[in-house]
Amino acid sequence: MSMAKSDYKKITTNSVQEMKRNGEKISMLTAYDYTMAKIVDAAGIDVILVGDSASNVMAGHETTLPITLDQMIYHASSVVRAIDRALVVVDLPFGSYQGNSKEALTSAIRIMKESGGHAVKLEGGTEIVDSIERILKAGIPVMGHLGLTPQSIYKFGTYTVRAKEEAEAEKLLEDAKALEAAGCFALVLEKIPSKLAKKVAESLDIPVIGIGAGQDVDGQVLVLHDMLGMTHEFHPRFLRRYLDLYDQITGAVGNYVADVKNRDFPNDKESY
Ligand code: KIV
Repeated sequence: MSMAKSDYKKITTNSVQEMKRNGEKISMLTAYDYTMAKIVDAAGIDVILVGDSASNVMAGHETTLPITLDQMIYHASSVVRAIDRALVVVDLPFGSYQGNSKEALTSAIRIMKESGGHAVKLEGGTEIVDSIERILKAGIPVMGHLGLTPQSIYKFGTYTVRAKEEAEAEKLLEDAKALEAAGCFALVLEKIPSKLAKKVAESLDIPVIGIGAGQDVDGQVLVLHDMLGMTHEFHPRFLRRYLDLYDQITGAVGNYVADVKNRDFPNDKESY
């Protein structure tokens, strides 16, 4: 029998695995600050990702590469203070884990200790298994991330769909199995063909959460500011906009500016 989201008082890594076993889809969104995280948690999201997309969305960088471990800890601790129910997963930023498993462990421990997050996410396959195993040995849950991995954007050259060719698709499936064998509790697949994502989800026992990976995975993730329509210039095919907050906020701010200029705000009732 499938469980409704309300049946879980608090989401844990075990609950998301149980959701896969029960055929309940997992909902995941990013958040980077207290106020948004509070709204998203109250609305019933299962997993909040403090993504390194904060580098783009919050700081205006072109890529996710510049964000630092200290900045990720600041965002994650703000989110953790807001939540009652959701599982909070925090991205390890570029340069804090690649190529050195001791440094990966130190970074993951800092995230858990200083932000209070519940798990970390790392981008990559077999090449980072050493780091993942070391982090897991410290009792820290790890979510994997394959397909389009934005921290490697300068290796890929573009943000186009990954693993369309057979060799890359085979390597991705191999990587996914290696991440599960290493002990990851879940896996994000970004921007890959739906058919391949389905094959990966069917091949693994751990939940596979897609972004631009089609319907046949165990859950979906989007960047909050994109799905709320706050980022006008970004419109990939996989993005469904649930609001057009850019226009609504522009309108509200425009009205406020006009009210101030016209001496309409504040009125007597709004004054002491
Ligand atoms: O940083 C992020 O927002 C992510 C999602 C796109 C999965 O990694």
